[in-house]
Amino acid sequence: MLTLSQVNAGYGDFQALFDVSLDVRSGEAVAVIGPNGAGKSTLMRVISGMIPAFGGSITMQDVSVLDTPAHQIVGMGIAHVPENRRLFARMTVEDNLRMGCFSPQFRDRYTERLEFVYQLFPRMRERRDQMAGTMSGGEQQMCAIGRALMSDPKILIMDEPSAGLAPVIVQQVFELIERIRGEGLTVLIVEQNVKQVLKVVDRAYILEAGTIRMEGTATELLESADIQKAFMGM
Ligand SMILES: Nc1ncnc2c1ncn2[C@@H]1O[C@H](COP(=O)(O)OP(=O)(O)OP(=O)(O)O)[C@@H](O)[C@H]1O
Ligand SMILES: [Mg+2]
Repeated sequence: MLTLSQVNAGYGDFQALFDVSLDVRSGEAVAVIGPNGAGKSTLMRVISGMIPAFGGSITMQDVSVLDTPAHQIVGMGIAHVPENRRLFARMTVEDNLRMGCFSPQFRDRYTERLEFVYQLFPRMRERRDQMAGTMSGGEQQMCAIGRALMSDPKILIMDEPSAGLAPVIVQQVFELIERIRGEGLTVLIVEQNVKQVLKVVDRAYILEAGTIRMEGTATELLESADIQKAFMGM
């Protein structure tokens, strides 16, 4: 569904990604794991058009993403839940969700999509009139994921959805991911909770210093001594 081939990207003169190739098949959940500064968020940003690539190719269902204007990428079925959620703190939950349906092409499906999100996350329906910034961290993450789902994406890209949350809430975020998978959505997720994320994905890539160092099925990586040593403190 989503294929990256030899992608190079960065900021100005600084290169953060070096010849990154990866693919995500329809219905799959794939994780990108790596230390701080490895380029994980950069990778998510280049896929969703927030930053341009220096070179390489990215295709979504055989259509070039790099040749598509940034504002049209969400229309290709790619939705990005950015790092640190980026909610509008002083707007209500429902207004934040509405922002996910901002483009004219989604607006006529607003009511239907809102109902989908509220069914998936009943807590958001309860909190619909609450200011997003006053909700708990876990609820805010739910709202950010809900906002991304408003555009009816084919692939949901999540950048560290469990960051900054207490362990019990982290567990709830992983349950949300399983619920999203249950809806048949394709998922690409960046995570630092390596052990937990490998339990909810099919495959993963290890990104280090802007380069893919290793890839494998979740089971292979969970059993790998190198991964256990590097990421699980074992
Ligand atoms: N807007 C920016 N301008 C310049 N350099 C940037 C910018 N954003 C990120 N970088 C640099 O690019 C490199 C990769 O950063 P990136 O945010 O992709 O890492 P990351 O793997 O997501 O790290 P973390 O786990 O800390 O979120 C880092 O060296 C970072 O300093
Ligand atoms: Mg990051």
